[in-house]
Amino acid sequence: MALNHVNLDIRKGEFVFIVGQSGAGKSTLIKLLYREEVPTEGRVVVAGKDLTRMRRREVPLLRRRLGVVFQDFRLLPDRTVAENVEFALRVTGYSGRDAKKAVAQVLAMVGLKNRLNAYPGELSGGEQQRVAIARSLVRNPDILIADEPTGNLDPDTSMEIFRLIERANRYGTTVVVATHARHIVDAMRKRVIELRKGTVVRDVHRGAYDD
Ligand SMILES: Nc1ncnc2c1ncn2[C@@H]1O[C@H](COP(=O)(O)OP(=O)(O)OP(=O)(O)O)[C@@H](O)[C@H]1O
Ligand SMILES: [Mg+2]
Repeated sequence: MALNHVNLDIRKGEFVFIVGQSGAGKSTLIKLLYREEVPTEGRVVVAGKDLTRMRRREVPLLRRRLGVVFQDFRLLPDRTVAENVEFALRVTGYSGRDAKKAVAQVLAMVGLKNRLNAYPGELSGGEQQRVAIARSLVRNPDILIADEPTGNLDPDTSMEIFRLIERANRYGTTVVVATHARHIVDAMRKRVIELRKGTVVRDVHRGAYDD
C-alpha cells in the first residue's frame, strides 16, 4: 500500500491542504476518502461511516454527500455546461424547475451564468474547472475533495478556483485538497498536512507549503 501509519482526524468544517512530493501518497489518500481505494489495513471514517466496512451498494450514497474535483475536469464533452451540472442533481431526485434553478444559481456563483449553453470544448481550462466546481457543489456536499484541481491552470486562474473553494468552505463544506500550488497554500494559510513516502511528516494549522 502507498500509505502507512497514517492517522488523521479532519473535523467538520475544516479546510485542509494535502501537500508532498510526487509519489508521496496524496492521491492515494484522496482516493481513500471517496472509496475509490480501500486500505489493506486500518479504517477510513468519512461522514460518520467506516468506508472499509461499507457495502458496494452503499458507495453511491456516500458519494452523493461528497463533491469530487479532479485535475482534468472530467466534464461530459457532448453536454452543455448546464447539463453537466444538472447531471449531478439527477441522482438526488431533484428535477424540473427546481433543478434548473439550482443549476443556474451555482453557475452564477462560479461566474458562468452567461455560458450555460456552451459546451466544455468551447471553454478555457479555468472555465471548465469552474463548471466542475459548480457540479461538485450543486448538491451541497458535506465534503469537497479535490486532487490537484489547479494542476492544469495558470497561477491567477488557480487563485480564482481556490477562492471559490474557500467560499464553499465558509458556507460549511469541509474541504480536503491535494495540491502542488505552493503560492496558494502560502497565501491561504490553512491546515497543511504533508506526506512523505506515504506517511504524515507535518500537520500544522495556518501552515505554509514548506516548513
Ligand atoms: N493502488 C496502489 N497500490 C500500490 N501502490 C500504489 C497504488 N497507487 C499508487 N501507488 C504508489 O504509491 C505511491 C503514491 O502514489 P500517489 O499517486 O498517491 O502519489 P501523489 O502524492 O499523488 O503523487 P503526484 O504528486 O505525482 O500526484 C507511488 O509510489 C505510486 O506508485
Ligand atoms: Mg497525485
